[in-house]
Amino acid sequence: MQRTDDTDPLRPPDPEAAISARSVTKRYGQLTALDSFDLEIARGEIFALLGPNGAGKTTLIRILTTLMNPTSGKAFVSGLDTAQHGREIRRLIGVVPQENSLDRYLTARENLELHARLHSMEPKKYRVRIDEILELFGLAGRQHDLPDTYSGGMQRRLVVARALIHEPKVLFLDEPTTGLDPQSRRAVWDYIRSIAGKMTIFLTTHYLEEAENLCERLAIMDHGRLIAQGSSAELKAKLTGGAVYEIELAEGSEHFTETLRQMSCIGKMEITGRVVTVHLERWECLAEVVTALNGAVLRRISLREKTLEEVFISLTGTGVRE
Ligand SMILES: Nc1ncnc2c1ncn2[C@@H]1O[C@H](COP(=O)(O)OP(=O)(O)O)[C@@H](O)[C@H]1O
Ligand SMILES: [Mg+2]
Repeated sequence: MQRTDDTDPLRPPDPEAAISARSVTKRYGQLTALDSFDLEIARGEIFALLGPNGAGKTTLIRILTTLMNPTSGKAFVSGLDTAQHGREIRRLIGVVPQENSLDRYLTARENLELHARLHSMEPKKYRVRIDEILELFGLAGRQHDLPDTYSGGMQRRLVVARALIHEPKVLFLDEPTTGLDPQSRRAVWDYIRSIAGKMTIFLTTHYLEEAENLCERLAIMDHGRLIAQGSSAELKAKLTGGAVYEIELAEGSEHFTETLRQMSCIGKMEITGRVVTVHLERWECLAEVVTALNGAVLRRISLREKTLEEVFISLTGTGVRE
């Protein structure tokens, strides 16, 4: 009988998926950088993988872009096994690595031409394509300059532009905006948005705002494992469980903070003047809180939405990494 269990690591890739990771494990000596990692990304999706430094994001990208094989498990791009179909996959993908990797001794345009030639494009075709791309990325005026004379933001745009020359079906961006100033970051976002829909986009980032702005779906990983995935709204709802409320007490009702402090269904509580912020374990305990406040004079109770940042920190902790 055929197994249809969707946790079976040996099941074939979903034909609709642009990217599948099946129980992918990668060890560097004693260190497990990816630990039975599973992921499925649909065609045309913009997907963000979030995680602190050392979580394993680049390792996953290196496997998916065929630079490295997993220790165990399988990864597929467009239904092709990354360990067996490197050449075909490299034709289908564009890669923006974490480090810029531009040739310093070639002009911007020459960098793009070299890439086109490595992808066996005809000069007639790539000349037109390079003109278009330089225009789209606002680099046409500086195309004959060396990349070292570019700002960080322009270099990053050039690397994104280069990854798009051969019209890939799947684009990988490893921390496309790390280290950029806010303006350049926005410019890179705009270009990513302008190409969205034309291809599947997989990006890693530790800017939560970036993931939230650009992506329909995101996943959070840490220590080589996937800890959560969904839309940003789903993640916030699922992971925070309860909700955060701000309660403003009127003068004379301050002593109710003590009553709240005794309540077991309040996970965390912060007091700023007469405003008490309570983190409820479950939404049902709002009724208990309201009952406990019987007799208090209240100026306001308001629901405070958790930010993605709070979700991220609650999942991955506050410790500084690598
Ligand atoms: N070539 C390597 N050899 C040994 N350890 C590595 C190598 N590359 C990455 N690592 C380790 O694997 C873990 C995951 O790294 P990486 O995939 O680069 O994470 P991220 O991109 O999320 O910061 C880290 O602990 C890192 O130090
Ligand atoms: Mg990395």
